[in-house]
Amino acid sequence: MRLTVIGTGYLGATHAACMAELGHDVLGVDVDPDKVAALAAGRVPFHEPGLGELVRKHLASGRLRFTTSCEEAAAFGQVHFVCVGTPQRKDSEGADLTYVDAAFAAIAEHASQGALLVGKSTVPVGTARRLADAHAVEVAWNPEFLREGFAVQDTLRPDRLVFGVESERAETLLREVYAPVLAAGTPLVTADFPTAELVKTAANAFLATKISFINAMAEVCEAAGGDVSVLAEALGHDERIGGKFLRAGVGFGGGCLPKDIRAFAHRAGELGVSLGFLREVDAINMRRRDKVVALARELCGGGVLGARIAVLGAAFKPDSDDIRDSPALNVAARLKLDGADVTVYDPEAMDNARKAFPLLGYAVSAEEALRGADLVLHLTEWPQFRALDPGRLASLVSRPRIVDGRGVLDADRWTAAGWQFRALGKPAPAGEGPFGEASFGEGTQR
Ligand code: UDX
Repeated sequence: MRLTVIGTGYLGATHAACMAELGHDVLGVDVDPDKVAALAAGRVPFHEPGLGELVRKHLASGRLRFTTSCEEAAAFGQVHFVCVGTPQRKDSEGADLTYVDAAFAAIAEHASQGALLVGKSTVPVGTARRLADAHAVEVAWNPEFLREGFAVQDTLRPDRLVFGVESERAETLLREVYAPVLAAGTPLVTADFPTAELVKTAANAFLATKISFINAMAEVCEAAGGDVSVLAEALGHDERIGGKFLRAGVGFGGGCLPKDIRAFAHRAGELGVSLGFLREVDAINMRRRDKVVALARELCGGGVLGARIAVLGAAFKPDSDDIRDSPALNVAARLKLDGADVTVYDPEAMDNARKAFPLLGYAVSAEEALRGADLVLHLTEWPQFRALDPGRLASLVSRPRIVDGRGVLDADRWTAAGWQFRALGKPAPAGEGPFGEASFGEGTQR
């Protein structure tokens, strides 16, 4: 089939390359000429394992092209996938639909007879109906659930497909698009527009709730002297609960979960439904960042002024160079504002971090970041950080003390190498008082 993909950001670039992999002729369109030029030259402007190879494979196969011309795209496609962003509005917590509206209007105006416009962007419920009423083209909604770092595999082998359709013809076209995925046994749920839109926002709300639930348990563990990792493991053995998305730590960030739960609560409010618990999910999440900042202050003797702090991690999660709403950089920037000398290292996100936070220090390796540090904060769980040798690092730092903000470092290994080791949601060692009240003796205030 001839498909177009409107918007070649994270979602769109992945979708375009994966649709070519399924055997379709795909034209990606974006208003940003730099993005189009990069993709047309086989360069993916963000870090996503396997995507560069797939783009280059299908530029070479001739099944994938990119353009800035909406007219060309409208004339080309039988099915048009709208994959543009829906950021948080500047004036409220609602979603900004400017790009979605513009994309639908631009394609609808020039679309060929019988074309199907398929929304993939995450939108407030009611958007598909509004767009279908506004334009003389058939509309469908097909939400996307891909995770950064696993975008290709999540698109080619998703957990499920969801089609929000109003006609048999729309369903048939979408079944044809995804034929190889369906043939592999992927479950398909067909639904009306509002349900299809809600599947995405409800899924993200549930995932965020699960993370904040375990982070609230971490707060209780800190107060009561329990260990949240052990608690999560035991909870996860119950199949009704499940162990995934139950990792306590500095909380969720990124371009989706934080903005999507706010937009969902906002939209529900417009509909007269209170999703107040999502406000609490958001608040718990933000409190974990506060906790790391407070802990850094305590460990540095009451304040961080003049303290040298090494931050391991800048991306909002490993296997990504995405720093949007990154807990690691939020903590780093706040400590910098408090007068600390902060040095950050991340395996992939350095360029993005430097652009967004030019006042932080940056090192070319974890070792360099740690040199002379009074305190180390481990805030993004890259596998490289787990493989670090605490014994060797102890000789580099000024004071061997570390906060594991992701609960994945081996406490015994670090402690055996002479480090004072703290993790969120875990008890302080005997003799140092309850978590959060621990004092490490003299401060590092200079
Ligand atoms: C998320 C959804 O998973 C995906 O389905 C949706 O399409 C887009 O939003 P993504 O933002 O790529 O995907 O990241 P995800 O892997 O879900 O992680 C989100 C955040 O939660 C990260 O900051 C991660 O560190 C954090 N997280 C995740 C936890 O703190 N604990 C966990 O147990 C899991």
